Parts: sequence; structure tokens; C-alpha cells
Amino acid sequence: MSHYRLWILSLGLALASTPALAAPSFSDDQVKALLRKSNCFKCHSETENKAKDTPTFREINADVKGRPNVERRFTRRVTTKTTADVKNKEVDHDPLKTKDESEIRAVVKWIMTR
Ligand code: HEC
Repeated sequence: MSHYRLWILSLGLALASTPALAAPSFSDDQVKALLRKSNCFKCHSETENKAKDTPTFREINADVKGRPNVERRFTRRVTTKTTADVKNKEVDHDPLKTKDESEIRAVVKWIMTR
């Protein structure tokens, strides 16, 4: 093996073992556990409308269909404390109970694919 090929091979191994490049993947159950922990399901069901006063994640997604920057918009919404109108009353819209960027990204991607 030439020195060059050896160099390429070791570069490849170094990259493959760099944690930042190994995108963590989250299962459906892990994302749902996070949403449950953060009380999101109190108001939002996944696709079926159980709580009629609040939109399902599918409806939320349909509302922003075709708009630019949906990922950024949702990320901001789920990481900051805001308010929402429920039955004409302003209530707290609390952020996710995590600061972990990969968890937040997984939740936003999950919402965007309902
Ligand atoms: C008290 C009820 C309630 C809870 C709890 C709640 N939401 Fe919401 N959420 C709403 C309502 C009502 C809306 C729609 C009106 C609005 O956007 O303010 C909404 C809107 C949203 C939107 C759409 C924002 C947009 O840009 O259109 C997202 C995303 C969202 N919620 C995610 C979450 C997540 C994630 C959680 C848990 C951390 C959560 N919500 C908890 C009531 C709630």
C-alpha cells in the first residue's frame, strides 16, 4: 500500500470516529417521551384531535406548509417561553424541558413530519 493510500485510510478512520459527525438519531418513542416530559401532549395530540381547543401536531404542520424557515420557526417556539390562546384565554406556552440541541432538533424534525 502506498503512503498516500495509507494516509487516506487513516483520515477516513479519524473522521468516522469523530462524535460530532455521527448524527445522533432518536426513535419515535424517545421523541414522544421528551414531549410527554415537557407536557406537550396535554394540548397537542399527534394526528387526531382529542383536545379540540388546541391544534394537533399534524395541523400545526399543515398551517405552515410551504413557508420558508419552518424549522427555525418551530425551534424558536419550542425553546422559548411564549403564550398561546386556548379558549380565548392567554396561557403559558412553555418550552421543551431540555437544552440538548440534538434532542431539540429531533423534536422539531418529528413535528415537521407528522
Ligand atoms: C396549554 C396548551 C399547550 C401546551 C402545553 C403546548 N402547546 Fe404548543 N400550542 C398551543 C396552541 C393553542 C398553539 C397554536 C396557537 C399558537 O401558535 O400560539 C400552539 C402552537 C404550537 C406550535 C406551532 C407554532 C407555529 O409556529 O405555528 C408548535 C411547534 C408547538 N405548539 C409545539 C409545542 C411543544 C413542543 C410543546 C411542549 C413543549 C407545546 N407546544 C405545548 C398550545 C399548547
